[in-house]
Amino acid sequence: AIKRLTAPDIHARKGGEPIVMLTSYHAHTASLVDRYCDAILVGDSLGMVMHGLETTVPVTLDMMILQGLAVMRGSERALVVVDLPFGSYEESPEVAFRSASRVLKETGCGAVKLEGGLLMAPTVRFLVQRGVPVVGHIGLTPQSINTLGSFKARGRDEADWPAIEADAQAISDAGACAMVIEAVAEPLAAKITAQVSVPTIGIGASAACDGQVLVLEDMLGLSPWVPKFVKRYADLGPSIARAVEAYAEDVRSRSFPAKEHTYPKKVAKT
Ligand code: KIV
Ligand code: NA
Repeated sequence: AIKRLTAPDIHARKGGEPIVMLTSYHAHTASLVDRYCDAILVGDSLGMVMHGLETTVPVTLDMMILQGLAVMRGSERALVVVDLPFGSYEESPEVAFRSASRVLKETGCGAVKLEGGLLMAPTVRFLVQRGVPVVGHIGLTPQSINTLGSFKARGRDEADWPAIEADAQAISDAGACAMVIEAVAEPLAAKITAQVSVPTIGIGASAACDGQVLVLEDMLGLSPWVPKFVKRYADLGPSIARAVEAYAEDVRSRSFPAKEHTYPKKVAKT
């Protein structure tokens, strides 16, 4: 059996070869991502991508576990990180442990991710000390959309830097194996990456980070809208539309299915 990368393996990559991470929510894409990436994030962005929700707030722990299990079945080498969804961890370290232990036990994944800085640092420490590897997530934290009011980038105003730096330091000191930094201005992301002892994995946070993550459907061109920080590596939306259009024409003109797609009657042996 191929040995999977572990949370300590990812932690050990600080300052070294960049960590490559993409999201996946299902087995077949997980097996493709697994060939080239170090880590796979089963993100709560599945609420938008798979379920058409407007935010990640309604996503449940059961939704995360179901997709985490699918990604574990589809992959064999990458560290699989599963997001703890809104409402499953914020209340207390004990509530967080109950949710995180369900995720680890029911999916077999190697780490969980949760959003928050200073306020969540005691929870991160509580989980790590009890055997749950944690990836932090600071900067833009989409689960707080209702208090933030918008998904705009953080740290473009230098006055906001100390608070975000304190968040990063707290999550690093609490024992996270890595931290996602989302939508943070380049000089601040670079400063944090130099200051903290755990790898930073950027999304919209510049090449200064120790690694990068993107939402797979965004970089494949399957999402109707993507933020400025996404590079589109494929344009699958129009390709899929062309394929569906061709299929519809073939069915209507009875040119599909053709003979080669049809079961003939058995020929009697003589
Ligand atoms: O849910 C997600 O896809 C994420 C990434 C944007 C980091 O948390
Ligand atoms: Na997320």
